[in-house]
Amino acid sequence: MDRESKDKRVFHEWWISCVLLLLAVSFVFDIWGDKKVIREHHPVDPKYYSTDTVRHAFEKPQIDQAGYEFDCNSCHELFEAPLEIPPLIAEHEDIVLRHEPAMTCYTCHSRTNRDKLNDIYGTEIPFDESVNLCRRCHGPRYRDWKFGIHGRVIGYWDPAKGAGKNLACVYCHDPHAPKFPLMEPSPPPSRDDFITGGKAANHE
Ligand code: HEC
Ligand code: HEC
Ligand code: HEC
Ligand code: HEC
Repeated sequence: MDRESKDKRVFHEWWISCVLLLLAVSFVFDIWGDKKVIREHHPVDPKYYSTDTVRHAFEKPQIDQAGYEFDCNSCHELFEAPLEIPPLIAEHEDIVLRHEPAMTCYTCHSRTNRDKLNDIYGTEIPFDESVNLCRRCHGPRYRDWKFGIHGRVIGYWDPAKGAGKNLACVYCHDPHAPKFPLMEPSPPPSRDDFITGGKAANHE
């Protein structure tokens, strides 16, 4: 090969890599493509897909007072419970009974041992077994619940793998106002991808 044609080839190679480099730069900065539409994603609020229940049970007969947990009896032992309950003024004013008009607090709470619930015959029921209170008056609903038709079963469906557990009624129904509150419908999934269409759609 003579010197002249060798120089030519070197020049050619240099020229080719220059073009490739320019192309690469143009791709990186997207010089020729349509303007990219930046998709806005509106993430769905986690509250809409949370599997948590609407409320939580008080499994222990305790309430929080200024950061300390007090047993019900720690107060209620100090004074005698009235037979006729006057409107609550000092302690539990937030509790408004909206269950069944003839009920009083003692329909469900023991008058003499406030750490326990009781049924209408006066049989004491621990707080963490409140289902046994509800079933006294909601037999058919309780039966449905037991079979997993009403409420929610957590754990295992297959008994061979482990135990299933039915969440107690009070995880969903406030015993004092048990009507299940109307729920806000969840928003649809984010459709922005489809709305902007064209280049901004998923199949770029
Ligand atoms: C810090 C003290 C205190 C604690 C703790 C407390 N209570 Fe009370 N409770 C009262 C007072 C005071 C009244 C009287 C009514 C009023 O003025 O609010 C009352 C009233 C009641 C009543 C109405 C009947 C009655 O005896 O007057 C019920 C039912 C009741 N409490 C249930 C409970 C339960 C269940 C717990 C535990 C989860 C509890 N209380 C914990 C102070 C307390
Ligand atoms: C239909 C039964 C029922 C009636 C009636 C009832 N309770 Fe309760 N109450 C329960 C159950 C069950 C719990 C515990 C379960 C829970 O709230 O998760 C409870 C919990 C409580 C608690 C502790 C938790 C909290 O919300 O502070 C207090 C205090 C209380 N009740 C007071 C009262 C008072 C006062 C009345 C009357 C005005 C009353 N209850 C009427 C069933 C009842
Ligand atoms: C002493 C009997 C009794 C007990 C105990 C009782 N309930 Fe009820 N409950 C009733 C009656 C009666 C009604 C019907 C009220 C009506 O239809 O107006 C009712 C209504 C309800 C409703 C429907 C409310 C509505 O307005 O749609 C729910 C939910 C409910 N109870 C849940 C419970 C739960 C949970 C418990 C246990 C913590 C419980 N109940 C304990 C007698 C009882
Ligand atoms: C996982 C949540 C959940 C659990 C646990 C649960 N429920 Fe319900 N319950 C609901 C929902 C949701 C409704 C339907 C409300 C509606 O259709 O407006 C309902 C409806 C009811 C109603 C009828 C109210 C009406 O307006 O028709 C009764 C009574 C009732 N439940 C009692 C019970 C009892 C008793 C238990 C426990 C043995 C229980 N529930 C456990 C969620 C639950």
